[in-house]
Amino acid sequence: MQILVTGGAGFIASNFVRYMLERNPDISIVNFDLLTYAGNLENLADLEKNEHHVFVRGDICSRQDVEALFSEHQFDAVANFAAQTHVDRSLMDVTPFINTNVLGVQILLDACRANGVNRYLQVSTDEVYGSLGATGLFTETSPIKPNNPYSATKASADFLVRAAHESHGLDAVITRCSNNFGPYQFPEKLIPLVIANAMEDKRIPVYGDGMQVRDWIYVIDHCSAVETVLRKGKPGEIYNMGAHKDVPNIEVVKSILSILNKPESLIEHVEDRPGHDRRYAMDSSKIETELGWSAAHTFGNALETTVNWYLDNRDWWERIRTGEYASYYEKLYGNRGKHCS
Ligand code: NAD
Ligand code: DAU
Repeated sequence: MQILVTGGAGFIASNFVRYMLERNPDISIVNFDLLTYAGNLENLADLEKNEHHVFVRGDICSRQDVEALFSEHQFDAVANFAAQTHVDRSLMDVTPFINTNVLGVQILLDACRANGVNRYLQVSTDEVYGSLGATGLFTETSPIKPNNPYSATKASADFLVRAAHESHGLDAVITRCSNNFGPYQFPEKLIPLVIANAMEDKRIPVYGDGMQVRDWIYVIDHCSAVETVLRKGKPGEIYNMGAHKDVPNIEVVKSILSILNKPESLIEHVEDRPGHDRRYAMDSSKIETELGWSAAHTFGNALETTVNWYLDNRDWWERIRTGEYASYYEKLYGNRGKHCS
């Protein structure tokens, strides 16, 4: 079985490629990634000599790149992880989000149709549902109400995937996962940012009151959920994925500081993110009951494993933080009139 994984030099998909190759000696993966600021071949260094893994640099927004890829390889399945993923960046410039997250998805759908690919899996997000009130959970039938430019582009993609299935009979499935954390997450996202800032005794920016709730899942559980849907999901269906661990941001931050034995005085409440969703919490009962998947990792243990990974791989994130990311971070807090380092 040959699978195309897009965005495989990023956080989740680099973990997914490794996860799949470790468990499935009969599959081969072509990993197609543009290597944007978030793509990093260091994330795949241990797979360099793996004969079942081929890396191809290319852009899902380029029909030329995608057609060349599909003419060279025959794919049984496509798992599209490639995306612009950071909400704060989408608030500053939505153009790359529209290109990759919307146009890029349509180009992949067209290529799958033209080449008779058996299964297309779109990696979507719980953010398409918008925000919950104080109670309740997102189900697959919750209204689609994205509140920020990133989630609006992801929701748009989901509609294009649905249309490809309904209009053209493409075997397509959509996965909607909650907030991931784990090794190789780019240190602009909350958990790796807090770990890195704390290790450097820098202030930790908490947006607003820090009482926004996210439903955290260890990245390996997301990988196993995607494999489950890739293999067993029903065509045209949507599957929510979460780990039943919805926690306010401030508690996540305090847990990390406690693991690292750092003081809570590092926390700085800064201006809130515009359009900040208050609470996400997933109902994953569909994938659990229909496909037999459930999250295997507990939040506390996985958080410790993650903190230890960042302790052991300081070079990895230090190189990132002294590069392009540094000027982005300055711009982000410059825009909000706050400096957090
Ligand atoms: P990431 O930002 O770490 O990685 C994205 C990858 O996509 C990078 O390697 C980048 O180079 C690549 N890419 C970007 N534009 C591309 C293009 N035009 N062509 C080819 N490659 C391109 O992202 P992530 O956090 O690993 O997220 C992966 C997917 O999972 C995304 O679709 C995201 O929406 C979804 N998702 C993420 C989370 C989360 O918590 N991080 C949760 C649910 C869903
Ligand atoms: O829910 C799934 C989504 O999770 C994915 O679709 C996105 O690609 C991914 O980036 C992530 O989005 P969030 O906006 O939830 O993740 P982020 O790590 O940016 O923020 C998590 C929470 O922490 C959010 O409520 C904002 C807050 N936050 C974030 C940062 C970076 C802070 O308080 N301070 C910060 O410095």
